[in-house]
Amino acid sequence: MEKENKNSRIKGFYDLPLEKRRQILIERGFLTLNDLENLDREGGLPLDIAENMIENVIGRFSFPLGIALNFQVNGRDVLVPMVVEEPSVVAGASFMAKLAREGGGFTAHASDPVMIGQLQVLDLDDLTTAEGLILKHKDDLLAGLKDVDPVLNDLGGGPQDLEVRLIINSAIGPFLIVHLLFDVRDAMGANAVNTACEKLAPALEEITGGRVHLRILSNLADRRLAAAECTIPVESLAFDEYSGEQVRDGIIEAWAFADADSYRAATHNKGIMNGIDAVLLATGNDWRAVEAGAHAYAARFGFYRSLSTWSQDQNGNLKGRLELPLAAGIIGGATRVHPGAKTALKLLDVKTAGELAEIIVSVGLAQNLAALRALATDGIQQGHMSLHARQVAIAAGAEAEQINKLTAQLIEDNKIRIDHAKEILSSWK
Ligand code: MEV
Repeated sequence: MEKENKNSRIKGFYDLPLEKRRQILIERGFLTLNDLENLDREGGLPLDIAENMIENVIGRFSFPLGIALNFQVNGRDVLVPMVVEEPSVVAGASFMAKLAREGGGFTAHASDPVMIGQLQVLDLDDLTTAEGLILKHKDDLLAGLKDVDPVLNDLGGGPQDLEVRLIINSAIGPFLIVHLLFDVRDAMGANAVNTACEKLAPALEEITGGRVHLRILSNLADRRLAAAECTIPVESLAFDEYSGEQVRDGIIEAWAFADADSYRAATHNKGIMNGIDAVLLATGNDWRAVEAGAHAYAARFGFYRSLSTWSQDQNGNLKGRLELPLAAGIIGGATRVHPGAKTALKLLDVKTAGELAEIIVSVGLAQNLAALRALATDGIQQGHMSLHARQVAIAAGAEAEQINKLTAQLIEDNKIRIDHAKEILSSWK
């Protein structure tokens, strides 16, 4: 084995055949042959494991797993596994990570992994009195939850605090909400929090005389935030006929659109989630939970807007920042059951859920930059369509040795359509 070289810049990776890419990962000490076989063997998920994951299983359904290159997060190089069906996502993240690297990479921070569990308390005579009683008994209520997960407690997690919120206007009249703040350490945390909420309910009923209805985690995990920043040297943004200043200003203008308009913000944030979901999926995390939290967070000021911000610093360089709730774990759920997810986590080489969140939010920022840079210059279709052409070629029935030639022909003809691809294929017969 060659000496370990954990640099995430691997020249020419994109152009290598798949087997050679895998060989490089082994040679450089990122993964073993066995790890990689985990991804092949039955599509990374043996049927007997699949069958125990959900109900009524009749098979499996695979997506490609690609590696985003060039990422440097808090000074550490990392290869990022991404599972996604959309072409150009992995390439876009890798390219923008390369630009960010020229400005020192990504600086990211994850807060403590504190999740919120909600309890809805109904049938109260007086909400303010109930609120006072809950706050008065807060320490006892929290102490009663200490044994929900003793392992979490030993690791410094577990119940942290209770907060009370009054809902005055609702379709069923006023009621009270209790928020249980619960530190879930390296888990995503839904199970621990839901268990704790259910345990807390009878004690709350006893203290308030009310009726606890819902007891469930909130996906608006705004106590578990992850943020990333990067600075792109303005000269690194220049390409073709575009100056660095033009690209920078175009990106800031594009961001301003998303920050002021919800229609654009939805698409802008979707681009961010292209990167975030792909890493969540690769690591066996609940991407719907993070999606829900991200979009709710984007609307926290009363209207839905951009999750990221782009500006220029005092030297004229482009500065980006992304912040969102990021409930992703490295233990529990599918993360340790799915062999492919285990391999993905090994590749990331993270020790805590916070470290994983820091990488994921950096990927989201890179993905956002890739989209804005394309939109602010040549438009999204140019890069997209050439990758799309490959998929069209395959869908039209091209044999392995015909794919490259047919892809090139579709692009040259500027007709990336399945009917045209079929026409070309039959003209080659
Ligand atoms: C496509 O999957 C994502 C984009 O639409 C994001 C954006 O518009 O910012 C390109």
